[in-house]
Amino acid sequence: MRARLLLLGSVIVLAAPAAAQSPLFPDGIASGDVTHQAAVIWTRTSLPTAVAVEIGTDPQLRGARRLRPVRATPVTGLAVRVDADGLQPAQRYYYRAVVPGGRSEIGTFVTAPAPGAAAPLSLLWGADTMDLFQPFRIFTAMQARGADLFLYLGDTVYADLGLERATTLEEYRRKYRANRADASLRTFLARTATWVTWDDHEVANNFDRTHPRLAIGRQAFIEAWPIRLDPAQPTRLYRSLRWGRTAEIFILDTRQYRNRAATPDGPDKTMLGAEQKRWLLDGLARSDAAVKIVASTVILRYHGRDSWGGYAHERDELLRAIRDRGLGPVIFLAGDVHYAAWIRHAEGPYEAVAGPLAAIPARTAHVAGRPGVAWTAAGAFTYGWLRIADGRARVGWYDEEDRPLHEVDVPLIR
Ligand SMILES: [Fe+2]
Repeated sequence: MRARLLLLGSVIVLAAPAAAQSPLFPDGIASGDVTHQAAVIWTRTSLPTAVAVEIGTDPQLRGARRLRPVRATPVTGLAVRVDADGLQPAQRYYYRAVVPGGRSEIGTFVTAPAPGAAAPLSLLWGADTMDLFQPFRIFTAMQARGADLFLYLGDTVYADLGLERATTLEEYRRKYRANRADASLRTFLARTATWVTWDDHEVANNFDRTHPRLAIGRQAFIEAWPIRLDPAQPTRLYRSLRWGRTAEIFILDTRQYRNRAATPDGPDKTMLGAEQKRWLLDGLARSDAAVKIVASTVILRYHGRDSWGGYAHERDELLRAIRDRGLGPVIFLAGDVHYAAWIRHAEGPYEAVAGPLAAIPARTAHVAGRPGVAWTAAGAFTYGWLRIADGRARVGWYDEEDRPLHEVDVPLIR
């Protein structure tokens, strides 16, 4: 807690004005799961109503397309998601939500390049935002990077900690609303395409597939984010994203299929579940992208039983498959542990860990000094930035005031 006070005591320069909270759209607007031809637009209204999304390439939305309205109802906590398709690749779009009697601010995002295009990628990643740690000023620093997308790797709320401990659906919903009260977060989400997954605190600390509130936590999580769901598998959260020929990003769900951490490790213990594991390995094998990014939330080694350390049999199977079948170059991205790290695993993959964005920073980095661990930082709020262009990748870590903590070039040898 002392580290937090020190950080909060310093001055930060706002890179962009934060949007005021709208009475009609108190949680703002967001875009997510943006591909080269579609984007999910999200908002939450303050009362039941019909919501139409306007989208176009003009910053003032002149000549914008208006999509068929959908109803915001109490069944989904007044949250709506609209999948806007028919978009052009590598294009900046603008959007807003419109209800009878008013409209939201205008948000923006860029679509992914066409599947065959060799386009640069600039992405941010981070995790861990607890309501008690507002204002979430780090999002203002992140926004100044102007990245193509943001991977929000879990602990997006702390349902079981902070201002209120959620046990009912309404209380879980309130945790997301409490975070959206933060102007830096709302402004960032309105202007950056986000791909989000959950970790444990969207339900409860270190939860697994047996947790009694898994379904409630999952419902509130899905309501709160612009996630594209498959109607045939409406609870599935793992999915992938293609960024031209440059990168393919696999976003994992490390929570709802996992065995209890206390289960003895071995061939029958799983974190991903059989179906997701097959999807990941097949996807890595099939992809011809220059770099494959695996967003894991929890880290691969040296951090104990709730992370991959407790599921080492399955982890080793994955890492060996990547090495033996030549599936690289692979960069794992993670959050969860509340310190930052850069690791090269013996099997070849890299691992970049960042966070917390705004939650209790760890005093020490648990993995420091272990084999392959090239750099660590603790005691600060951090986010990560990954850029890939012209066959080169660069990873950087930055604090709440956007001071660089570490930057490294990644050789992309398969
Ligand atoms: Fe966390």
